[in-house]
Amino acid sequence: MKKLIITIFGSTGDLTSRKLLPALSRLYEQKQIPEETMIIALGRRDYDTDRYLEQMNQNSASDLNIDILKKLVQYFKIEITELDQYDALVELIQSNKDKDTRELFYLAIGPELFPVVSKHINKSNLVEIGNKNQSIIFEKPFGHDLNSAKEINEMLWNYFDEKQIYRIDHYLGKEMIQNIMMVRFANRIFEEIWHNRSIKNVKIIARETDGVLGRANYYDHAGALKDMVQSHLLQMLSLIAMDVPLSYFSEDVKDEKVKVLKHLSFDKESLISAQYDGYLNEENIPKDSKTETFVFFKAFVNTPRFKGVPFYLMTGKKLDQKESVIIIEFEETNEQRKWDLPLSTNKLYIKIAPLDGVGLVLNSKVPGLRDDVETVELEYCIACNAVGNMSEAYEKLLLDITNHHKTLFTRWDEIEYSWKFVEHVEKHQSKPVIYDNHEMLEKMIKDLTGEDMK
Ligand code: BG6
Repeated sequence: MKKLIITIFGSTGDLTSRKLLPALSRLYEQKQIPEETMIIALGRRDYDTDRYLEQMNQNSASDLNIDILKKLVQYFKIEITELDQYDALVELIQSNKDKDTRELFYLAIGPELFPVVSKHINKSNLVEIGNKNQSIIFEKPFGHDLNSAKEINEMLWNYFDEKQIYRIDHYLGKEMIQNIMMVRFANRIFEEIWHNRSIKNVKIIARETDGVLGRANYYDHAGALKDMVQSHLLQMLSLIAMDVPLSYFSEDVKDEKVKVLKHLSFDKESLISAQYDGYLNEENIPKDSKTETFVFFKAFVNTPRFKGVPFYLMTGKKLDQKESVIIIEFEETNEQRKWDLPLSTNKLYIKIAPLDGVGLVLNSKVPGLRDDVETVELEYCIACNAVGNMSEAYEKLLLDITNHHKTLFTRWDEIEYSWKFVEHVEKHQSKPVIYDNHEMLEKMIKDLTGEDMK
């Protein structure tokens, strides 16, 4: 690939300043994308490129690499809902591309704009259906329920070929999520015991400290179940529970993940919905909102491999810490009864954030003369070992798109079955309880299930 042109629709938003521009400048700095890369930032504001970058720098969480971005970015003023304004954009792209140019069209816009923008992209011949050098990228929310997700998807299929579509779930770009398959399938010690005869339960947890921040309008219609479970938590669950794929190529992996999503059930007695104290005072949240900012429930994967194993899913905002982790707890050893010692179960921690890594909890003899047992953790911390080499999720995802690698992107049927399951859970939700600390929630979970979420 000699040339890359990335056109970002909705380029003045948070996603572009916080994630896309930092990722693209790092990829460029590391020579992962071509020297001849052009980023066309579309927006309706009256900026020139310098002013645009200045504004993006102010909005970004950390300083942008302005020197690099000045080489790459060109701001282009356009009303993306007006078809007649696309001609100038088509001309700009035509004059900068040749027949091998890789072209990405990033829809960093709300889903309500997808239909009109997709139609205009098609009508203006910006993207030719089936052209494999041209890709369309977008991310959640993939609709607000199964029907709206279907509508969006069918609409997109009118204008683009499935091979051109990249649906981003940014969790899949995180280092340890990518590593799940490697840990499971490249290590004999796990390969042999990854089933319901050895695994006692699985916990999938995403705790956050932030509240809704500035996303009230979106979040209040979604809530924790649709915002986090439908996408990130079910993606993690499917990678943990899937059977061995025929190959590690994208479609074979997705086939296995879909089988898991098709076989999900949940225990309605275990469902906890809660809302953080103060949520109703957040800007733009209706005073009578019943949206949950925390959700917990016990699910089951009804496949021969995992039948009967509880999967505890928990996610919430305004909790005590920011942490995403998967905990796999193994059954007691067969020899347990011969030991007159308080043995613990083994646990495998797949640590996704804030520090990616793996931890394995074992029983070990207390060193010295006493015959006693203690639990020890063997820990592998990726960031601690790879200082300077860690890449952000968006770097990996953007690089994979430019290279046509689709494994880390969600296929339509994964989204479809996730929505089916989430809608089923939603039917059993009732008015959320109010929480002002995490202990209260964890106690409720303990009382209901006997489990500590750690
Ligand atoms: C997003 C959700 O998809 O993921 C947010 O919409 C959430 O509500 C975020 O805060 C969490 O992502 P990360 O990478 O910060 O764990």
